[in-house]
Amino acid sequence: MSLTPPLSRFDFPPGFLFGAATAAYQIEGAGFGGCGPCHWDTFAATPGNVVRCEDGARACDHYHQWPADLDLLAAANMDAYRFSTSWARVMPDGVTVNPEGMDFYDRLVDGMLARGLRPFQTLYHWEMPSALADKGGWTNRDTAARFADFAQKITERLGDRVASIATINEPWCVAWLSHFIGAHAPGLRDIRATARAMHHILLAHGMAVERLRDAGQKNLGIVLNFDYAQPATDSAADKQAAARWDGIFNRWYIEGITKQTYPDTVMEGLAPHMPEGWQDDMPLIGQELDWLGVNYYTRHLHAHDPAAAWPHLRDVPGPLPKTQMGWEIYPDGLQHFLTRMARDYVGDLPIYVTENGMANADQITGTTVTDQVREDFLFAHLAATKRAIADGANVQGFFYWSLLDNYEWAEGYEKRFGLVHVDFESLQRTPKSSYHALARALARNDQGHLR
Ligand code: FCB
Repeated sequence: MSLTPPLSRFDFPPGFLFGAATAAYQIEGAGFGGCGPCHWDTFAATPGNVVRCEDGARACDHYHQWPADLDLLAAANMDAYRFSTSWARVMPDGVTVNPEGMDFYDRLVDGMLARGLRPFQTLYHWEMPSALADKGGWTNRDTAARFADFAQKITERLGDRVASIATINEPWCVAWLSHFIGAHAPGLRDIRATARAMHHILLAHGMAVERLRDAGQKNLGIVLNFDYAQPATDSAADKQAAARWDGIFNRWYIEGITKQTYPDTVMEGLAPHMPEGWQDDMPLIGQELDWLGVNYYTRHLHAHDPAAAWPHLRDVPGPLPKTQMGWEIYPDGLQHFLTRMARDYVGDLPIYVTENGMANADQITGTTVTDQVREDFLFAHLAATKRAIADGANVQGFFYWSLLDNYEWAEGYEKRFGLVHVDFESLQRTPKSSYHALARALARNDQGHLR
């Protein structure tokens, strides 16, 4: 364990924000505080979907332990905290407000401010209320309007204190991973449902931005995830396969928003399945953003597979070291996306790395968890971020995923991403060596100033 981290906050521009990210369902405990059922509860209760059928009923019990968790962020010298506000907690039936849920987030935001942490709120990190899932969830256009109502209600309560609001977390996961691959709730494998979800999730974003902007809310953005698509070989067919994946994963959402178009390489497969009149929604989807969130974890190698239906792809395992998720460690991909976003899509708009991190099979020995591999991962990605800034990308912050080990969706509690170890029996929190290294890197100078 090195005592002097390879980078510190002073290697970044003045005002650059460092933080950690979490999401409501993954940490709070959906069984508490009058939270309504969501599609993750039922997905988890259906055998075969989630490791050991684990769900988020208790998770890290952050619903009760939030003051100590916020203390952990502050003690690591962080500037900001990216959290999400569960739709199912705020509106258990998707429509009616649960005052207990509102009060919880109210206390949480005040708790952040009291500790000098800037609240970066995400509105949809995947808790589709079951009542709306019953009506088709993201395959149903009306869900987008319901989402705008939710955005408005929660912002009426918190909007005076949050530093920024992201509408949606990772629309690719919401749409493709959940409706085409079927690995996340609602677990569909249906191309028509996928096309609709891909459009309606952006429509929900657009409707919410319009509603919040009309109400005078500032600092509105979206969090997109990016996966570096590389061809498995130099063949033209594999290059085209990688380009198709780049279209599906990376271009669809950012181009819908910033260019008001969808890539031809994707429309090739989806056009017959798009909701009627989708073109008319593009101006609403394409409203201006105040900032862009980039989540980045890994790259994939793609080969053309003529035997498979559109998009005619197959993943080929890559040679790089992998995390506990089996994801290759490839920091250059983060630099690639940050510079590409600035160059091709958002220009000088502020960009935040809203998630980056790794799962590791961390072991606790007494009260110590040594995760040098995570420390190396984190600093390699901070270095990639710094290179992107040198390339001209206006990156203004970096949030590590995640503060705590937590409910990793279909992987249950098995995959540990936290800077802080959580014992899921006792709920004991133990900061790992990566947490201590980051805290040292983020120490402020003697006057407590950032510079
Ligand atoms: C992202 C999700 C986040 C977490 C990380 C590992 O796709 O936004 O909730 O699960 O992956």
